[in-house]
Amino acid sequence: MRIAVPRERREGERRIAATPETVRKLCALGAEVAVEAGAATAIGIVDHAFLQAGAMIARDEGATLEGAAVVLKVQRPLTTAEGGPDELASVPRGALLVGLLDPFADPALLEGYARAGVAALALEFLPRITRAQTMDALSSQSNLAGYRAVIEAAAAFDRALPMMMTAAGTIPAARVFVIGGGVAGLQAIATARRLGAIVSATDVRPAVKEQAESLGARFLAVAGTEGGETAAGYAREMDEAFRRRQAELIHETLKKQDIVITTALIPGRRAPVLITEAMVQDMKPGAVIVDLAVDAGGNCALSCPDEVVTVHGVRIVGYRNMPSRIAHDASQLYARNLLHFLAPLIGTGGALALDWQDEILRATCLAREGAVVHPVFARAG
Ligand code: NAI
Repeated sequence: MRIAVPRERREGERRIAATPETVRKLCALGAEVAVEAGAATAIGIVDHAFLQAGAMIARDEGATLEGAAVVLKVQRPLTTAEGGPDELASVPRGALLVGLLDPFADPALLEGYARAGVAALALEFLPRITRAQTMDALSSQSNLAGYRAVIEAAAAFDRALPMMMTAAGTIPAARVFVIGGGVAGLQAIATARRLGAIVSATDVRPAVKEQAESLGARFLAVAGTEGGETAAGYAREMDEAFRRRQAELIHETLKKQDIVITTALIPGRRAPVLITEAMVQDMKPGAVIVDLAVDAGGNCALSCPDEVVTVHGVRIVGYRNMPSRIAHDASQLYARNLLHFLAPLIGTGGALALDWQDEILRATCLAREGAVVHPVFARAG
């Protein structure tokens, strides 16, 4: 069975779906792995390292995907409608395509998987059950995104984060406010604390209070968060009265902050706009906002995707795809997530042994055998 690892072709995507470590383990399970030449050279993983791990290096995308039973990707295939080469066209019929396929981004692509006879598995839909924890790519990537957001903020900030007492006088510690305390937000809190900042945080899920406090942040609670968490552990969209109370708290808090990291997301929805222009206007000049929700529309009304803009003296960093800005480690963790996902699907002799009734396959499968099968999309038609 051949597993193909093509180079990622989307603009700004520097990660790769396999590393020499995971290639070695996949080969030990009896698979043959083809990696596209130069796929990870830019992030310090050279072809020779893949070769030594047991992979074959294929000269181009076509040669990589030829005869593949499994295609490992970071992002969903590029389409001609997006101005790129049609990546799906090279995926063999019947192959499993596994990646962060961003299922809500392009409904036409789901039909495309069905037409191409590809079994498309989206890691975003992985159930958050104990057995799937090692496969949880959203968590591994969010964690690094949270870390990197603080590093980007520190770089855009013309001052220091820790308090420094020097012969020339004292530099005060920076104040960092983290909005949204999921995986990314908690890592942002931890990173900002390690850099010596004074950190506070808020979230609609009451469970975040204890987690944020255990990392050394002050938690700013908005009254009425009792229903803020779904049974699946995600945030709910809050009502108008709550949003008003939250906006007042955020507005007042922002006036005193040096750095704000926003990470608030609601799965499958547009991100809530929590920072308005009026709030930015009342912030300190020189303050920095890093909006990690920019891919989902942004938590700050002024964020521009992939740009750093300065509005009312506040620098607003809107980098999309933050994990790609720490691509080496993001690839290491992502490739391990994929290995843990794939290993149970490989039977003796290295062939795929799929049980489509399995909870993990059922939850992640968007399309297979010529049809869109995921309940979210199949119902929507
Ligand atoms: P996420 O990326 O969906 O959202 C980020 C954060 O934004 C969440 O904490 C959410 O509550 C918050 N948020 C949403 N709307 C908001 C608003 N209007 N105002 C303020 N904050 C808002 O969340 P993520 O990181 O995926 O984590 C969600 C939950 O899943 C957490 O409880 C986390 O601990 C849990 N989790 C469970 C795992 C497992 O069991 N294997 C693995 C990873 C996370």
